[in-house]
Amino acid sequence: MPIKKILVDLSNSIKDDSYPILIGSGVICRGAGAGPGGGIADFLKSSGIKDRGRAFVITCGTVERLYGSVLRDFLEGAGVNTVFFTLPDGETTKSLKYLSYLYDGLVEKRVERSDFIIAFGGGVVGDIAGYAAATYLRGINFIQIPTTLLADVDSSVGGKTGIDHAGGKNLIGAFYQPKAVLIDADFLNSLDKRELANGFSEVIKYGAVLDKNFFSYLEHNYKSILSYDKNSLAHIIEKSCLIKAGVVNKDEKEAGLRSVLNFGHSLGHAVETLYNYENIKHGEAVAIGMVFAAMISKELGASSDESVNRVKTIIENSGLPAEIPAFTPEQFINAMKSDKKVDDKSIKFVLIKEIGRFEFKMLDFGYIYNFLNKILK
Ligand code: NAD
Ligand code: GLY
Repeated sequence: MPIKKILVDLSNSIKDDSYPILIGSGVICRGAGAGPGGGIADFLKSSGIKDRGRAFVITCGTVERLYGSVLRDFLEGAGVNTVFFTLPDGETTKSLKYLSYLYDGLVEKRVERSDFIIAFGGGVVGDIAGYAAATYLRGINFIQIPTTLLADVDSSVGGKTGIDHAGGKNLIGAFYQPKAVLIDADFLNSLDKRELANGFSEVIKYGAVLDKNFFSYLEHNYKSILSYDKNSLAHIIEKSCLIKAGVVNKDEKEAGLRSVLNFGHSLGHAVETLYNYENIKHGEAVAIGMVFAAMISKELGASSDESVNRVKTIIENSGLPAEIPAFTPEQFINAMKSDKKVDDKSIKFVLIKEIGRFEFKMLDFGYIYNFLNKILK
């Protein structure tokens, strides 16, 4: 399969931090399109990252065990001195405690600006490693090598980095773009079904609010996608990256349009917070949030029964949760208020108008409270 290249084109932003997303099978081993016989090291050279720099690979236990040696061998084989920092698996790693552990390691190894960080893992690793890269020495180069579907289609692209705080999700963070995103869908072979569905939730999001043809494709092909069919996975990864890059190109720092990517996240983040980030995955919480957002869109007259049913059906068919969990409206509202994107009285909600079309609306918490009260009875 040829390597596909998508440009995140930030040439219209204040600072041109444009970078490529390279997608392919064996993209790491085979090289990222950097020339014959290339390899990741060739890519690093051609992308302007100094070849005498050292690579600091931030990963999690599972990925290190499964693929650590593959990446290490390629880097070391190409003469890049490589150090691994391995974090525990799971959302609770996206914390000050592990950020501090990373800073200690970077300081101890005397990491310099000519060195670079590789975020090698799912969204948790990508977010915390990206934030360490953004803040250590006021910013050092980093590369995303995502290994989950969620990270392939969403978190590795667009430069949102950060950690959680007890007071709310992703409360501490920075926009900081990687130098490249290298996506090798072969990593997904070892991902369990629940994690695959978790990433698929963010794919559904793109179709639901931005592309009705893509949504139809997902409705017709979810079975092969969730059965690890290589071609379908390659297609949804490429299409999702194209959609996301298209949004980020227009609005890097979420001044307007980019908020559309938060469809399902207002209630979703609240659900994650209420679960204390345990026993629920990000994509699962977003799935619940998308059904809720579709329902509230219909209540407001923006959307139809058909859109609500199609969103709910694909979520259920994918094995994702669609039911709002048993917390009280007060609990949901308090958790929503901890979201960084809200004021005390209202929240910017992404409504679905029909499949593939969205609308922003400021909704009062009083209104959301009453709606929750009505549907949770
Ligand atoms: P994750 O990083 O926790 O990975 C899920 C699990 O899969 C982990 O246990 C990990 O060890 C394991 N794993 C990773 N790759 C594997 C592989 N190839 N084979 C087998 N197991 C593997 O979770 P995630 O769903 O990838 O990411 C969720 C995080 O992403 C959340 O913190 C969310 O807030 C964040 N996120 C960020 C953005 C953004 O724009 N920055 C966007 C969406 C989500
Ligand atoms: N996941 C939402 C964004 O990147 O903006």
